[in-house]
This record gives sequence, structure tokens and C-alpha cells, in this order.
Amino acid sequence: MRKNLIVGNWKMHGSHAANAELLAGITAARPFGCDVAVCVPFPYLSEAAVALAGSDVRWGAQDCSAHAQGAYTGEVSVGMLSEFGCRYVIVGHSERRQYHAESDQLVADKAKAALAKGITPIVCVGETLAQREAGETEAVVKRQLSAVIHTLAHCAGEMVVAYEPVWAIGTGKVATPEQAQAVHALLRAQLKAATPHADAMQILYGGSMKPDNAVSLLAQADIDGGLIGGAALKAPDFVAICRAAG
Ligand code: 13P
Repeated sequence: MRKNLIVGNWKMHGSHAANAELLAGITAARPFGCDVAVCVPFPYLSEAAVALAGSDVRWGAQDCSAHAQGAYTGEVSVGMLSEFGCRYVIVGHSERRQYHAESDQLVADKAKAALAKGITPIVCVGETLAQREAGETEAVVKRQLSAVIHTLAHCAGEMVVAYEPVWAIGTGKVATPEQAQAVHALLRAQLKAATPHADAMQILYGGSMKPDNAVSLLAQADIDGGLIGGAALKAPDFVAICRAAG
């Protein structure tokens, strides 16, 4: 039986005051019956680590460099993240693929770099609206995942996968539970062909997940949690989703 994982992706939101209030609201609502993590902007990682010390709420970053070190201005290495005790790193979010032209191979290299430092990559895949309407959903998510599976090889079972249909991110247009489950089942089948650990792997859904739709999404056989954007910025909403997943 897989445990659900709920991850808050704060994106480029936050301030000292807002973060303290949000993290206090989350930790005060524990215990949750699922795994819970927050992925915060780089400058706030260490204060999140301090605020969450002693709690079972985990924390992570929203991106990392594929390089170990060197002349890469503005980048943050997985070695730096691991020094702080970072547990997760989101890689291949559609906003990075879109605005930073990240390729499938770069995403795969980032995932590999993270695992090498003991950080679990949360690998995002998902189709745009145009791709869905053109009937390309399966081909797109399979291509995105296949690059990572190939690069991670025997370690593929150690990642977390997140299916985030681009058309559902920040739009309020959530995938129906059936639409999401259909893609999750495809991803699980692809993982099964690559690793003996596929049945134990967490595949998260992301895209306008809110307290009022979380229960029906999480009830699906292959949906093992959520990657939450907007609703992760309000403690009561995030806590309600964690409770739905517990
Ligand atoms: P929203 O929950 O705001 O749609 O964002 C989803 C997301 O992109 C999480 O990574």
C-alpha cells in the first residue's frame, strides 16, 4: 500500500512573515496520515529547515543545477542543497520547461544529480492544452518520462513522478479524476517496464488541486498524492488537502 505524499510548491511566493505564518499553520495541524513536504524558494530554504526542525514535515527546493559546481552564475547545486538536509527537489516543472527552455535530457540530468546526493527528485511531466487537443498526451508524457528512466537506469524507482497537465496549472481547470487516473496508469505501466519498484512509487497529480477536489482525485488507484501550487500558500487549504490524503 503506497502512502500519499502532498507537496506544496510555493513557486516564487513568500516573505519572512508569510512563510513563518504558513509553516506555523502547517506544523500546528500535525499529525497527518500522509507524507507532507514544502518546496520553498532558495533564499528561504534554511529558515524553512529551522522552522520545520523536529517536525515530520519535509522540505525541498524547486529546481537545481545538473552540474556539481563551477562557473554557472545563479545556479544552485544539489551538493549545496544536501548540506542543509534538503529532502526533495522539483525538476522539470512545466514553468521551467516553458520559460527556461529546459529539455527532457536536462531534466533527466538534474534528477540524476539529485539522486547522487540523496535528494529525491520530483520529476514533473505533462501536456499542454494544444497537445491534449491534438491527441498527443500519451506520447508527450511518455517521452518526458522515458528520458528520465533512461538516464536514472537502475535508480529510476527512487524518484517521485508528478503528472501536471499544463492546462490545469493555475487555471482552476482541474483534470477530472478519470482523466488524471488514465495518465497515471500509463505512467505506472511505463515505470513497471523499467523498474521492479514501480508499484511502490508515488505518482502525484498537480494542477488546481484544492480541498474540494482532492478527495476524488486521491481516490484514484494510481494517484498517490498531490503537487499543490496556489492552495499551498494558505495553511487552511493546504492542511485540508493533507487531511484528505491522510
Ligand atoms: P496550481 O495548484 O496553482 O494549479 O499549481 C500546480 C503546480 O504547478 C504545482 O507544481
